[in-house]
Amino acid sequence: MSLAGDDAASDGVVEALAILGEHLINTILEGGSEETIKEIIDQGAPVWYQNDSEGLSPLHAAVYMQNQSLAKMFLEEGAVWNAVDHLNNTAGDIALSFNSQELYTIIRDAGIRAEMLLALLASRATSELPSNLVLRNTDVSAAASTDMFLASDLLFKADETGQEICVVKLDNDEEVGVMMGWERPIMEETVHCLCPDGGRQGLKVLNVGFGLGIIDSLFQSLPIPPSDHVIIEPHPDVLQHMKELGWLDRPGVRVLQGKWQDWINSDELLEYGGFDVIYTDTFSEDYSDLRRFFEHLPDLLSGPSALFGFFNGLGATNPLFYDVYTHVSELHLADVGIDVEWKDVDVSDGKDRWGKTRQYFSLPLYRLPVGRMGVLC
Ligand SMILES: *[C@@H]1O[C@H](CO)[C@@H](O)[C@H](O)[C@H]1NC(C)=O
Ligand SMILES: *[C@@H]1O[C@H](CO)[C@@H](O)[C@H](O)[C@H]1NC(C)=O
Ligand SMILES: *[C@@H]1O[C@H](CO)[C@@H](O)[C@H](O)[C@H]1NC(C)=O
Repeated sequence: MSLAGDDAASDGVVEALAILGEHLINTILEGGSEETIKEIIDQGAPVWYQNDSEGLSPLHAAVYMQNQSLAKMFLEEGAVWNAVDHLNNTAGDIALSFNSQELYTIIRDAGIRAEMLLALLASRATSELPSNLVLRNTDVSAAASTDMFLASDLLFKADETGQEICVVKLDNDEEVGVMMGWERPIMEETVHCLCPDGGRQGLKVLNVGFGLGIIDSLFQSLPIPPSDHVIIEPHPDVLQHMKELGWLDRPGVRVLQGKWQDWINSDELLEYGGFDVIYTDTFSEDYSDLRRFFEHLPDLLSGPSALFGFFNGLGATNPLFYDVYTHVSELHLADVGIDVEWKDVDVSDGKDRWGKTRQYFSLPLYRLPVGRMGVLC
């Protein structure tokens, strides 16, 4: 058979699938019986199909019909929990907009299961599988790849509103905030939660990722500053900035220059005998990197009263993705023996925080994690 014949045959298959997919969606929206819908799926209608004009999937259609049993059925049959329609809404977003908590929870839980499974497959694979669906690392710009990021120039400046920001410029001239002044209330609350007693003699703190130095300055301004304050920072421009601000020779502060992966098993770090407070906020790393960091925590935390926090910004441009990541990270922390409590921080402050930079957090509530070693049984 000629190649042209193959193409024609596969075009025919695609067309047949599209017709079945359309038929499935229309039947759902017309309130067809569950039996009819099952029949259409049995005939080969793809549950992952998305309608050409609107990007509607059977799962979206089930949500529009407010039908939980259909949504469950499609998810079991392989519907993609995080597919977005042409307005960038997932079925879960639509469930939220209908105030339909049960439907939302069904989709979110399917998302958590899917992401846990993918993470498990990725951790068992010798070669790098795509680690997740939400934050696919296909972007090779400085915002998505650690090596590109470390080779890019950073700008420390004030934006149009006077907000202090640190940005990286992408090839297309777009600016992406590495750290921005609006995060300060989150950092204040984080330090408040991680050092509830206002610091104490002998306190040992480890922070990964200096950024604008907001959280490190807050640790230093505790009523009793840490006795040992270790900062790991890889970016040459940030290190230069730290040097200018005097961070490299502050008493009690030690700056380890490099990526956390370079230091995590080093004597320099392990000789502290564990930290009472650990925080991490790295730019351009994805969830699989954060999860790898989690796995070191049992060796790094000083004991049962030690506390751990991280910048919870993954998936934070969409409420469903944020919810899924929050749960997935909680489950992965539980795997390494860490219990997390979440505190909501209102960041809905209407001021324009982005200026000309790309948005990376667009939700009204920040979910602040406070982790500690659970009692292992
Ligand atoms: C869900 O949809 C199916 C198929 O249309 C229908 O049989 C069932 O009654 C619906 N359930 C609800 C709660 O509307
Ligand atoms: C897609 O869905 C919309 C809304 O139900 C419908 O109007 C349209 O005909 C469907 N088909 C295609 C091919 O877009
Ligand atoms: C949907 O998201 C894409 C990628 O983020 C964006 O380019 C597009 O403008 C968005 N579309 C709408 C309707 O918001």
